[in-house]
Amino acid sequence: MLQKDKLLEIFNFRYACKRFSATKKISQEYFGVILESARLSPSSFGFEPWKFLVLNDKTLRNALKPVCWGGENALENASEFVVILARKKVDLVVDSAYIQYMIEEVQKIPSEIQKIKKDFFHRFLAEDFGLLKDDRKIFDWAGKQCYIALANMLTAAAALGIDSCAIEGFNEEAANKILSDAGIIDTAHFGVCVMVAFGYRDNDKNANRPKTRQSLEKIVQYV
Ligand SMILES: Cc1cc2nc3c(=O)[nH]c(=O)nc-3n(C[C@H](O)[C@H](O)[C@H](O)COP(=O)(O)O)c2cc1C
Repeated sequence: MLQKDKLLEIFNFRYACKRFSATKKISQEYFGVILESARLSPSSFGFEPWKFLVLNDKTLRNALKPVCWGGENALENASEFVVILARKKVDLVVDSAYIQYMIEEVQKIPSEIQKIKKDFFHRFLAEDFGLLKDDRKIFDWAGKQCYIALANMLTAAAALGIDSCAIEGFNEEAANKILSDAGIIDTAHFGVCVMVAFGYRDNDKNANRPKTRQSLEKIVQYV
């Protein structure tokens, strides 16, 4: 286990990198660890409603630049650029092929228990969280899980001395269209949730800015 000071050092090392080196690349071994931190991330009911598109293709990165104002430098220079996709309602309703696959093949839940889990899940979707009311609600719920994976990837990268930047600065509709027109995503099943770049800083003045955060007293309430 890490010493507490080391852990805090990792959180302080991470910052939103605005200028990535165009030449310093992440080793496949280290990037593999970042992807593994996403794969091992927890998700509600364990349904992993995500997919991680690693954009190696320069043409595709260039195509995204005009619609991704928050990630222009990252698309140009970052060693790795990941588009995190969230699943849509068609895959997340209780009788979908995807949920059946997760329960049976991934979670290996015995058939006599499957119905119990499905009933719980359906009640959660329909009543507890009211997620079946419109398509956007359930997509955003899938997105919440994606952000857990995002956070783990950011921290895993920092622990390996790798810089990163989460990116929401894009036009959602346009980004989906570019990836769909390129035949990469089926928008019936997936939508772009958030993007994230990894690499190494290059004379980035943001690296030395002190963190701006509210105090714990402002954000934590003991009751
Ligand atoms: C979900 C999310 C989306 C973000 N989108 C962008 C973005 O599009 N472009 C960018 O330069 N920074 C982006 N950021 C970085 C934030 O502005 C940054 O994390 C915040 O100001 C705190 O600064 P720090 O990360 O350097 O500590 C994003 C951060 C998060 C968590």
